[in-house]
Amino acid sequence: MLELKNLTINVSDKKIIRNLNLKLEKNKIYVLMGPNGSGKSTLAMSIAGHPLYLIKKGKIIFNEKNITKASPDERSQSGIFLSFQSPLSLSGVSIYSLLRTAIAGRKDPLALREEIEKTAKLLKIKKELLDRSLNEGASGGERKKIELLQAAILDPKFIIFDEIDTGVDIDALKTIAQFMEKNKKGKTYLLITHYNRILKYVKPDVVLVMMEGKIVKRGNYKLAEEIEKNGYEKI
Ligand SMILES: Nc1ncnc2c1ncn2[C@@H]1O[C@H](COP(=O)(O)OP(=O)(O)O)[C@@H](O)[C@H]1O
Ligand SMILES: [Mg+2]
Repeated sequence: MLELKNLTINVSDKKIIRNLNLKLEKNKIYVLMGPNGSGKSTLAMSIAGHPLYLIKKGKIIFNEKNITKASPDERSQSGIFLSFQSPLSLSGVSIYSLLRTAIAGRKDPLALREEIEKTAKLLKIKKELLDRSLNEGASGGERKKIELLQAAILDPKFIIFDEIDTGVDIDALKTIAQFMEKNKKGKTYLLITHYNRILKYVKPDVVLVMMEGKIVKRGNYKLAEEIEKNGYEKI
């Protein structure tokens, strides 16, 4: 699905990611852990094609296509979805109009509205949040659920959730996790987190640990438990 080959990324002339090699496969949930500042968000941003995160060396291959130089828009069209660490609010734009624009006529507006409402219900998103401007007055957890709602409607193939459990209460986390487990087929999830809280509800296939811009360890969910117990120092 997604392959990073010898990837080196600079942010304002500082080397953040170093010679990273990583293959992320279909039908799998990956969890990326690591201390603050280790480069997790940088990796997410560069996969999504954010221009600030400069690819100095290496390649990003997505479904056999080299997307190293593709624009963020081309990447999202090809099925990559990034949910930011802090989802922004958008004044004057509701989730309905945002998604109607994103879908660009591929679905009938009424059918789209119904689908949004149905999915919002599954995700336990309050109806009033849908009618408001995007994320306006929404809590951290509500914002994350609204991100997942967008992902569900846009149906991307590669989904990155940066800081998936930050500002999210246990009930919201459970709902998010169940939704992902149910919508795993044909998709790849890359979940970035500090904690192993999420691992109670979602069983990752692979846990990756990043430190100073490198993947230093790879394992299963037990690795996350080990980190919770001993911290990153031991790794
Ligand atoms: N927009 C930016 N401008 C300058 N430095 C940045 C920017 N984004 C990230 N960095 C730097 O890159 C390093 C990695 O940050 P980040 O990828 O956000 O780490 P993590 O998400 O693992 O906490 C940090 O030293 C951070 O200060
Ligand atoms: Mg981060």
